Amino acid sequence: MRMNGKVVLITGAAGTIGGAIAQMIEREGGRALRTDLPAHKGQDYALDVTSEENWQQVAEAISRQHGVLDGLVNSAGIASLGTIESEDFASYRKTMAVNVDGTYLGCKYAMPLLKMRGGSIVNLSSVSGLVAGHNLASYNASKGAVRLLSKSVALYGARLKPPVRCNSMHPTFVEGAMVEAMLANVKSRDAARERMTADVPLARFAMPEEVANLAVFLLGDESAFITGAEIPIDGGLTAH
Ligand SMILES: NC(=O)c1ccc[n+]([C@@H]2O[C@H](COP(=O)([O-])OP(=O)(O)OC[C@H]3O[C@@H](n4cnc5c(N)ncnc54)[C@H](O)[C@@H]3O)[C@@H](O)[C@H]2O)c1
Repeated sequence: MRMNGKVVLITGAAGTIGGAIAQMIEREGGRALRTDLPAHKGQDYALDVTSEENWQQVAEAISRQHGVLDGLVNSAGIASLGTIESEDFASYRKTMAVNVDGTYLGCKYAMPLLKMRGGSIVNLSSVSGLVAGHNLASYNASKGAVRLLSKSVALYGARLKPPVRCNSMHPTFVEGAMVEAMLANVKSRDAARERMTADVPLARFAMPEEVANLAVFLLGDESAFITGAEIPIDGGLTAH
């Protein structure tokens, strides 16, 4: 019961990774506060991560209903495919708004609650925050920003007493909705999947539970001395 007594807010909790993390937090004895866009029913709070006003409302509601927060997982995110020439500016701005503004606002508005008894923030970056692809201009920009934002938050949080830790996770392709969306318009799914795993030494996609395992480790007390770290979960991809 590694999450016993811990209250953790998760964005993008209707998604593959956010959902798996929420489930594992509860299996480990914690309370997962699920948030996602209003269209997704069954969440604890409707939260568009790009809206500062939404964040203020949710932080206030958590303060009223739970009094404290022990963890935050910024998992809401969107993928976008496009080169610097082919992608339009509107798509770039949307990607940056969800992936970067959303993570920034999450760290900002959860911090007053997290610092009450110390806490841990886990930000979903990507291998695309560590290495680039020719057709991932805005996604690379956004996930690179999440990587260094996490380190700044970690350095600030380390000065607090009790401290608030912050780390970024960097998965390669994870089985689920985001990958399915990328495969939606390809001619041969098998050939595309093969291409997508060609550079992965372990030769497969990650499973959502494997990403959730790492998140729960980073949220829990076992990782008390880990902050400001960027942790690939990529089957060896970035070892090349
Ligand atoms: N799936 C992968 O292969 C993969 C790999 C590396 C990193 N990631 C990152 O992990 C995170 C989670 O990915 P996933 O696989 O669960 O994706 P997903 O598409 O299954 O889920 C993403 C969730 O984010 C929500 N969301 C989108 N815009 C939002 C907004 N403005 N406000 C609030 N919620 C919003 C969606 O409704 C969805 O439920 C993302 O940040 C993604 O970039 C995913």
